[in-house]
Amino acid sequence: MVDIAFARPALPKSGALVLLVSEGEMPSGLWQQADHATGGAIARALAAAEFKGAKGKTCTILAPGAGLSRVIVVGLGKPSTFEPLVFEEAGGAAAALLARETAATIGAHAFTADQAAQAALGATLRSYRFDRYRTKEKPEDKPKLSRLTLLVADPARGKAAWEPRAAVANGVFLTRDLVSEPANVLNPAEMANRCKKLSELGVKVEVLGPREMAKLGFGALLGVSQGSVNEPRMVVMQWQGASGRGRRKDKPIAFIGKGVTFDTGGISIKPAGGMEDMKWDMGGAGTVIGLMAALAGRKAKVDVVGLVGLVENMPSGSAQRPGDVVKSYSGQTIEVINTDAEGRLVLADVLWYCQEKFDPRFMIDLATLTGAIIVALGHGHAGLFSNNDELAEKLAAVGKATGEKVWRMPLNEAYDKLIRSDIADMKNIGGRPGGSITAAQFIQRFVNDKPWAHLDIAGMAWSTKDAACVPKGATAYGVRLLDRLVAQFYEPAAGAD
Ligand code: BES
Ligand code: MN
Ligand code: ZN
Repeated sequence: MVDIAFARPALPKSGALVLLVSEGEMPSGLWQQADHATGGAIARALAAAEFKGAKGKTCTILAPGAGLSRVIVVGLGKPSTFEPLVFEEAGGAAAALLARETAATIGAHAFTADQAAQAALGATLRSYRFDRYRTKEKPEDKPKLSRLTLLVADPARGKAAWEPRAAVANGVFLTRDLVSEPANVLNPAEMANRCKKLSELGVKVEVLGPREMAKLGFGALLGVSQGSVNEPRMVVMQWQGASGRGRRKDKPIAFIGKGVTFDTGGISIKPAGGMEDMKWDMGGAGTVIGLMAALAGRKAKVDVVGLVGLVENMPSGSAQRPGDVVKSYSGQTIEVINTDAEGRLVLADVLWYCQEKFDPRFMIDLATLTGAIIVALGHGHAGLFSNNDELAEKLAAVGKATGEKVWRMPLNEAYDKLIRSDIADMKNIGGRPGGSITAAQFIQRFVNDKPWAHLDIAGMAWSTKDAACVPKGATAYGVRLLDRLVAQFYEPAAGAD
């Protein structure tokens, strides 16, 4: 991760200088100093490029003099129209242009500590790269940026604003690493091992294997896993940031993730084209794990439990068949019409266990659950399903604030009817129409009336193109959304104790 530092405004003597400039802003302060030191090179370049500071526009000036390797001017748009993410996105845009530099300095007129920390977060998130398996890349082709300094009037406040964000970036990176790993490396046991590392942050981690789950009666989860030689795991991660500090013991908040480390579809096998994408069918679990790392890393004053169901869905002589009936941990029986609708089977047992064991305040599950949600919402929003308007509204609000957007979808009795079975309590698919909704109805049958939200993130966990703060590949969608949900609504306000 790029090393982040804060310093008082001063022209750097070397490296790259990034100036964040709003539309219509007159050169002053650092901008003016840089322009003077380079004999007017910046003003000339901006005039030639007709750069006016519009949001998202950038202008790069190479070797302008004064020892600087490059000056990058990033437009913020008009201050009156600044959106919550403007500084993060500007930091991300700058990072994308800084790969060839080793050290860079970012400044803006009247940069507040918080804005500087936002820019640092954007730059950090954009500079993520998964290069574990590149053995032949020449050193000069690797991104070099190792130190980023943000210029603010009060560096100590900048650093204080950065610290919790550094923990969130760390969680995002953990999720992206997990989601990027190929399935021959990241099987359920390996994924559980990576969860264990969270104990270094003070998270209590407990791992259940197939025999323990069989004893409990996890027939739905184990049915999915039975075709694979890779054993399943369920991991329970607890962060006690409230009760652990001697506070009144509230019920914990629970996050549950689908962790199918590879989804072939099972006997209802998927077509070959694009099947490699199913290595990221553990994206929901990946997000829950990164979220736990973020919350523990910034010592969130809240009790949270994260549960992930980890299985591999394979076809084999021992695989479950279409038409099989399994008995879930809840006691409800399920006719498995399609072995490719496996995520809901995994979640069914983990959600029930979560309620039995923790009686949480509310539960939020995340899953790359249906291709149908991509048909409905594309890659712009996760599908949000909830039995609780207040929780849904909070999620919508933090979605806007973090840019990790959600769109609420309906649930009702008429959709629930579509998963009735002739032989068991329910079947695991409801047909093509409303495929994401019937999947959510299925999950709701394992929720009782506990406040709950389900995020179908099939369209959001992976991206095929670069965005401001998210390079293409694993996005870690949901880590920032849910970290913000916890911070904004479920932790004592800053200062209060
Ligand atoms: N993991 C898939 C859903 C998915 C599809 C995630 C594309 C990411 C990208 C899920 O297990 C699945 O196979 N769902 C089926 C359900 C169907 C059999 C009812 C689907 O969406 O086709
Ligand atoms: Mn599937
Ligand atoms: Zn799946």
